[in-house]
Amino acid sequence: MTDTVTLTIDGNQVTVPAGTTLLDAAAQIGITIPTTCYHPTLTANGLCRVCSVEVEGARTLVSSCVAKVAEGMVVHTESERVRRSRRTILEMLASAVDVSEAPEIVAQMQQYGVDAGRFAGTERREIPLLDDNPFYIRDYAKCILCWRCVQVCAEDVQHTFALNLSGRGFETTIGTF
Ligand code: SF4
Ligand code: FES
Repeated sequence: MTDTVTLTIDGNQVTVPAGTTLLDAAAQIGITIPTTCYHPTLTANGLCRVCSVEVEGARTLVSSCVAKVAEGMVVHTESERVRRSRRTILEMLASAVDVSEAPEIVAQMQQYGVDAGRFAGTERREIPLLDDNPFYIRDYAKCILCWRCVQVCAEDVQHTFALNLSGRGFETTIGTF
């Protein structure tokens, strides 16, 4: 097995260690792929799909924060198909939760020309504010279900495993047992 892999990202050839994600391979040549659920110090779970890119020959877009490089891969990080997908994902996110206090997401919405009202009229996650302890306020109306808090509470940091998803479908929130 070779230790390195050479692929092409947006027309640029790059050689990286085998096992590198497409997100990290792109970063090595100065290409920033937008992410929402991903955090560099946590296990990536590929939940939001904002980081999806187009790989020639692949039927569907792939999440670059979890997809690994392969020899000869040809990747497009800003094709029209990719941009349309990101726009729709962000429009759906903005229709479901209040992202106004998430500057990175607001910037992505501007970058991809998001029409925040495209899914207006669809249900919004209206969850009462929880101010029930001295340490922090929980406002799940702003929770994008990125899973990072669950990951921190579990094997990535705390090993407490107190948090998990609670409820189903549109009613899903982060909760304790
Ligand atoms: S509460 Fe957890 S899942 Fe929701 S946005 Fe914050 S870190 Fe992400
Ligand atoms: S950042 Fe890759 S799936 Fe969310």
